[in-house]
Amino acid sequence: MMIPLIQTLQLIVNPTRFLEDCAARYGDSFIVRVLGWNSPVVAFFSSPEAIADCLAVPAKELDFKKATHVFQPLFGGNSLVLQEGRSHNRLRQLLMPTFHGDRLKAYGELICQITQEITRNWTAGASISMQQIMPNITFEIILQVVFGMTPGERYKQLKELLTSLLDDITKPWYSSLFFFPPLQKDLGAWSPWGKFLRRREEIDKLIYREIDERRLSKDVSRTDILSLLISACDENGQQMTDVELRDQLISLLLLGYETTAGVLAWVFYLIHFHPEVKYRLMQELDGLGDELNPEEISQLPYLSAICQETLRIHPIALICTPRMVNDIVEIAGNKFTSGTVLVPCIHLAHRRAETYPEPEKFKPERFLYRKFSSYEYLPFGGGYRSCIGAAFSIYEMKLVLATIMSQFQLELADSRPVHPVRRGITIVPSGDMRMVVSRKTRAEVQTQLPLQS
Ligand code: HEM
Repeated sequence: MMIPLIQTLQLIVNPTRFLEDCAARYGDSFIVRVLGWNSPVVAFFSSPEAIADCLAVPAKELDFKKATHVFQPLFGGNSLVLQEGRSHNRLRQLLMPTFHGDRLKAYGELICQITQEITRNWTAGASISMQQIMPNITFEIILQVVFGMTPGERYKQLKELLTSLLDDITKPWYSSLFFFPPLQKDLGAWSPWGKFLRRREEIDKLIYREIDERRLSKDVSRTDILSLLISACDENGQQMTDVELRDQLISLLLLGYETTAGVLAWVFYLIHFHPEVKYRLMQELDGLGDELNPEEISQLPYLSAICQETLRIHPIALICTPRMVNDIVEIAGNKFTSGTVLVPCIHLAHRRAETYPEPEKFKPERFLYRKFSSYEYLPFGGGYRSCIGAAFSIYEMKLVLATIMSQFQLELADSRPVHPVRRGITIVPSGDMRMVVSRKTRAEVQTQLPLQS
């Protein structure tokens, strides 16, 4: 009992250190015991071979719900995250097209506009908390791009309710309610669970009203994700019900905004902590025309390499969705029996010196000269459960970063290194990551950068 308790606490309090210590001691694969689900054996993998094997195990041989069921009160039972087998496939088929290809292009200008709007009042000398601003930006982007809502009374109410819900659920004591079902007791509006249920009801009312209106208006010119989902059909010609739509919207919102905001906070920190990287990025941005062009920005090679390297060194989600073995599976030549939980470990895969020389160093160039396989580099997981927002969030990161860096000169308010800390299910920079702003034209920023060595 003692060992599972200690290992669980280490995983919660300092997960990156715990995983790195285990890898240093035991190598690419190791087993820990955690509390909960009868203290199962949890096997972590980080070699490309083991990750490839793990992601290739057919879904019917694994149970994903054992890990994801904690999200049910938040996401709803119809959420993609809680589905398995055919219904998981069906929802992915309905959702995936809305996040890819030409659809993305339709969101580019809106993303740049929202970023400009939120940073409009930044003045020279102002101290900005990147930990507050980045979620503001990504939250607005989700509300407008995914929900397709425009500012107004319902938008305001939904924003207030969702923001306070999200603030609460990232607090460790509040999030523990979801992990311990006996705490889920409605003891009135002031009890923690009672408050959660009432707030969820209010949020749901607003979402269902939005869905109703959208169904009635039948406006085919809309390109937001809710409108696309309302009219999408599966292979049998079936459309999503209102409850299905609600559950996907909430899941996309909760999984999509804090993750991207966290990576953006890391990017701003890393490029300002490495002036030579910032210099090279500014040179690249300087080649852009005066008008921001989302397509041009998304093609910039060094900007892309910066985003990739940031997601390598700080992948936000340390692991892929844990999966429990139903019967027996073989991973990298070892057999794992029923009840073992398999975890492809993104954080450790990204820190293997065999794949990434000097893995602790931030070096965007490594992505300019080499292509990594999807088992060596997997910030968005892999296989049939990989992140459906991957292309969207990379696009969003590049546009937000380029929009801000083209208009402002920023400095880290504190030159001491920050370290990774847990926030909800993500790993973000410690503290509120303050930066000081001085508004500059792009030409002025250029003349102030150090000479390239
Ligand atoms: C930088 C930002 C993001 C990162 C690092 C990230 C990472 C991940 C990871 C590691 C997984 C688990 C994959 C696996 O088990 O193989 C995942 C799943 C998922 N993500 Fe993301 N994500 C990000 C942004 C987003 C966005 C913007 C959305 C949607 C708007 C989104 C929606 C989802 C969904 C729905 C799943 C569950 C997929 C399934 O179970 O089939 N994510 N994400």
